[in-house]
Amino acid sequence: MRLDAGVPTPIVPVPPLAAQALPWHREVADAVATVAEARREHGDTFAISHDRDHYLFTFSASGVEAFYALPEDVASKGVADYLMLRRKLPDSLFEGRRTLPGTLFRRDDVADYLAHLDAALDVTLAEMGERGEVDVFDLTRRLGHRLGLASWAGTAAARGEAFERLVVAFDVLDGSDAFVHPDAMAAVAASGKAAELAALEEVVEVLVPLAPDDGLSGRVHAAWADEPDDAARRRGIALDVALLHVASMSNLHAALGWALVDLLSHPASLARLRAGDTDHASRCALESTRLAQRSIMARTVLAPVSLDDGTTTYAVPPGWTIATLLPLLNTSAAPGLEGWDPDRWDRHRLRDVEGLASPRLVTAFGHGRHTCPAQPFSLAAMSTAMVRLVEAYDLTPLWGSHPAPVPAQIGGVARAAGPVPVAYAAR
Ligand code: HEM
Repeated sequence: MRLDAGVPTPIVPVPPLAAQALPWHREVADAVATVAEARREHGDTFAISHDRDHYLFTFSASGVEAFYALPEDVASKGVADYLMLRRKLPDSLFEGRRTLPGTLFRRDDVADYLAHLDAALDVTLAEMGERGEVDVFDLTRRLGHRLGLASWAGTAAARGEAFERLVVAFDVLDGSDAFVHPDAMAAVAASGKAAELAALEEVVEVLVPLAPDDGLSGRVHAAWADEPDDAARRRGIALDVALLHVASMSNLHAALGWALVDLLSHPASLARLRAGDTDHASRCALESTRLAQRSIMARTVLAPVSLDDGTTTYAVPPGWTIATLLPLLNTSAAPGLEGWDPDRWDRHRLRDVEGLASPRLVTAFGHGRHTCPAQPFSLAAMSTAMVRLVEAYDLTPLWGSHPAPVPAQIGGVARAAGPVPVAYAAR
């Protein structure tokens, strides 16, 4: 079966068909507002169908619960992610991989990554110096690169010229462009992904001579130990690392950026972090991530499956993608969810919210079988980074109004639409 082949078999009964388009069909001013408009017109379950792309959106409590319960072998997140990412990334990045992002969080891995984070923060603070001005999201992105590359490629990839070259290359080879700038994907296709292919070769060239450490980077090398051809082995290792880094770049640095932005607007929480309250820091990180979510959650139907939205049970054939969109639920599924309140979280669980029809209507890291395996690591990393930065510096926001997300973005944690400068001075 071709996953992108023409018009699929209809859903039975036929759901309302919205006239709206998604940003990779045609230009839309605001992707989230567009889907919201379709929902206002057609109710909680409706289809958006264009050319080779066929989505069944659902937003009711039962529909969203049924969505999270879909089995991977009939309605696949892996395939949905791949179909999204391949708009931006070269096929060669996916072919023959031996170390996949789902295997990054085995026992002891997180402790190893957090040790790399401490080292990355040491370098970050040294680079920042006594005082200056920096864009919040540039700062967190560079930190994310340093943390990720040290963790998956070994410390040699996180320093000196190798690091600087990799930062430039990975900023081109950024898979999240597929959902942050979906409107740019037609141009990427038209170019034959020329820039991305060149960036991938640059990544391979930089990574090939580097030695691994004991941790995950050693595991990547071990996965290729039985490859007799030296060049194929080295290239395979480099491509494994490239895919791990591209996958890990999707959300963490952006979520940390919003967490800092929100923290600087809430002096009482800032004071608690400066007093070393890491538990509060973790809840701040979770709350900022909830508010910054722009994720489209998608499952590509591979075998006939039914979806009960509480009113209607739809028989959904292969060729459709079942989806829901977090920004249309996270802040509006019940009254009181609009504002930033870290104490609405009890560790990783949302405390009971009056009027919320299902706890699955709100999330930062997902529900069910595909819940983010990196959640504990990400929250620990964000908390540590926030505490270290606010302990080291007085930070003064230089933005006028609250930073806004990129309007076309449909997926992942929001990216800021414009500069988010902050002035800092050592405390
Ligand atoms: C603040 C940072 C992060 C956020 C908000 C986040 C969010 C999410 C969400 C919402 C899902 C579920 C998507 C769905 O059900 O369709 C997910 C899955 C996943 N995330 Fe994360 N993520 C973050 C960081 C990371 C990092 C750093 C990594 C890897 C290094 C990672 C790897 C994964 C993987 C492999 C899955 C798929 C799990 C599966 O299909 O079983 N995430 N993430």
